Amino acid sequence: MLKIVTALSTTALLFALVEGSFVAAEAPPGSKQAGPSKAAVDRTRKTVKMLDDIYKSAIVLITENYVNDENDLPAGSAFVALFQSMDKKGWHKVRLIDLTGEPYEPENVAKDDFEKQAAKQLKDGKAFVEQVVDKDGKPYLRAMTAVPVVMQKCVMCHPQYANAKKGAAIGAISYTLPIE
Ligand code: HEC
Repeated sequence: MLKIVTALSTTALLFALVEGSFVAAEAPPGSKQAGPSKAAVDRTRKTVKMLDDIYKSAIVLITENYVNDENDLPAGSAFVALFQSMDKKGWHKVRLIDLTGEPYEPENVAKDDFEKQAAKQLKDGKAFVEQVVDKDGKPYLRAMTAVPVVMQKCVMCHPQYANAKKGAAIGAISYTLPIE
C-alpha cells in the first residue's frame, strides 16, 4: 500500500513538473518566451519583503544600541559590506540609496532606469515599487522600498534629514532577485 501511495505521488509530481515546463517547451521557435508564472513572482516578492524587514529591523536595532556618536561604525556602512557579501555569494543584489539629493556617499544614488523611476514613485509616497525584468533570458524581480527617517539619531550623520517631512522617504533599498 505504501509503495502504491509513493508511486502515485511520484506520478503526480512528474505531471506537475511537466505541466510547469509546457509553457516554455510549446512556445514556437523564435517567439518570445512566456514570462515567469504569477506564483513564482509572488514567492519572490514575499522573499523581498522578508529581506526588507530583516535588513531594516537590523539597521534600526544596531543604530539604537551601538551607534552613539559620529565615530561609531554606522549601520549604513556595515550593511554596505553585508550587501556586497550577499552579492558575492550569489544570493541577491541589494543597494542602500539616497533620495534627498545629498548622499553621504556619492555612489549611493539611483543609477539605472528602474531605480530612477522607482525613486520618483517612492518620493511621491509609494512604499514599494516592483518590475519583472529579463536579463540574459532569465527573469528577475526588481523592487525598491522606502526608507523613512525612523529616529532622531539618523540626523546626527545626515543633517539634511532634519528637513524631511515625517514619514517621507529619504532613502531606499533596491533589490534584484532571480525569479525561480
Ligand atoms: C554614525 C553616523 C550615521 C548614522 C547615525 C546613520 N548613518 Fe546613514 N550613513 C552613514 C554613512 C557613513 C553612510 C555611507 C555608507 C557607505 O556607503 O559606505 C550612510 C549611508 C546611508 C544611506 C545611503 C545613502 C547615502 O547617504 O549614502 C541611507 C539611506 C542612510 N544612511 C540612512 C540612514 C538612516 C535612516 C539612519 C537612522 C536609522 C542613519 N542612516 C544613521 C552614516 C550614518
